[in-house]
Amino acid sequence: MTVFPKDFLWGGAVAAHQFEGGWQADGKGVSIADVMTAGDNKTARRITSGVLPGENYPNHDAIDFYHHYHEDVALFAELGLNCFRTSIAWSRIFPNGDETEPNEAGLKFYDDLFDDLLAHHIEPVITLSHFEMPYHLVTEYGGWRNRKLIDFFVRFATVVFKRYKDKVKYWMTFNEINNQVGMMNEWALFTNSGLVIKDGENTEQVMFQAAHYEAVASALAVQIGHQINPHFEIGCMVAMGPTYAATPNPNDVMKAERAMQTNYYLADVQVKGKYPAFLKRYFERQQFNLDMTLEDEDILRAGTVDYIGFSYYASHVTQATADEPADFMTMGKNPEVKNTTLKQSAWGWEIDPVGLRYALNWFSDRYDLPLFIVENGLGAFDQVEDGKIYDDYRIDYLRQHIEQMKLAVDIDGVQLMGYTPWGFIDLVSAGTGQMDKRYGVIYVDKNDAGEGTLARSKKDSFAWYQHVIETNGADL
Ligand code: BG6
Repeated sequence: MTVFPKDFLWGGAVAAHQFEGGWQADGKGVSIADVMTAGDNKTARRITSGVLPGENYPNHDAIDFYHHYHEDVALFAELGLNCFRTSIAWSRIFPNGDETEPNEAGLKFYDDLFDDLLAHHIEPVITLSHFEMPYHLVTEYGGWRNRKLIDFFVRFATVVFKRYKDKVKYWMTFNEINNQVGMMNEWALFTNSGLVIKDGENTEQVMFQAAHYEAVASALAVQIGHQINPHFEIGCMVAMGPTYAATPNPNDVMKAERAMQTNYYLADVQVKGKYPAFLKRYFERQQFNLDMTLEDEDILRAGTVDYIGFSYYASHVTQATADEPADFMTMGKNPEVKNTTLKQSAWGWEIDPVGLRYALNWFSDRYDLPLFIVENGLGAFDQVEDGKIYDDYRIDYLRQHIEQMKLAVDIDGVQLMGYTPWGFIDLVSAGTGQMDKRYGVIYVDKNDAGEGTLARSKKDSFAWYQHVIETNGADL
């Protein structure tokens, strides 16, 4: 017996910049992903000033879906997906971001892709901005610190909403919009908002300003989208990694609560249409000089989302300390507390299936909206043995998470729309730029050095996931 509704969305998730390649094809402009070098488990990706000779930029070619999409979509159909989450590369449609007219060749690519998907009865689920704004908007305007970005984004959103209004029903505005809040690091500020912090700037203030403009842009897009097609379902997309208290000490519990309030304040803004009280007080105490107008407040109220899309990979633990006490706000200098009850992936991410049920309940209690798990999965090194990949570790990970989804639906009554495991076809890692941090049930022959035939093959997890979909999650 399955607990999932008949129309449950079983899919897989990717993002344009991590798998399309074709970074200059058909008039595409340079995106922020195109100026990020490859890193690894221990070395952070570097952001270069433009595309420099001699550097390794893994997103440029990625897995070349741009030239393989026809065969790949057929393979997705064989897997049995009924939906497919990807993003539209903004710089294919507006190469620099500030043009008034879109690039027809870029629009045509997504037309063909969506037609192919629909011909295979696969519903596209589309993120408008997934870590891939045009780089020109960074060099010319300073990224999302600039209010002008709202107009550029709204123009982009309007063009694609109109163009694909009869092909795409499910949309999300900004991928993991809250990464920048939780991490406050160079990578998150750049990938979320195209921000490069200048000497003397208050990073937190710049981040809150950029995030505000994104929230306004998102709310405008929701309103415009609904005018273009009232049947659109437009969601937010937040990175969910619940924060637990390290001990029962009330200060630790308060600190964990503050971490949750802070990390998900953008979900409050996008779902409830207003800022939470603690944050308004924080802005006052910090004497931030933020450009937030009364008109913005009206826009936020009128542009709330239809559902909550979220990613879930891991949970976190926090502890109050003398320098980072109970009401400490953004990510600090103290290292995260290790959860000794959980195993970790090779990249140190805590593996916590129950945390997914906790997250589903937390969202459901707080917002009472349909939920969509649009990313989840295990990044792992895969070994090819006699041409096969025996990835039972990945099957275990996915099975344990789907079991918790079932409990959340069956016992807790959570409204869950669907599940799209991340990187179900191997792609470039966003965090490290590696190919060998693999999430897929489909293997792609390419390694961290960029070598390989790009041939696609099925891992053991392919047949397993195919059966899960066939049985609508009844048989795991
Ligand atoms: C999310 C992103 O942060 O997690 C994806 O939305 C990303 O773009 C995924 O790829 C997994 O992270 P990573 O760093 O392992 O690629």
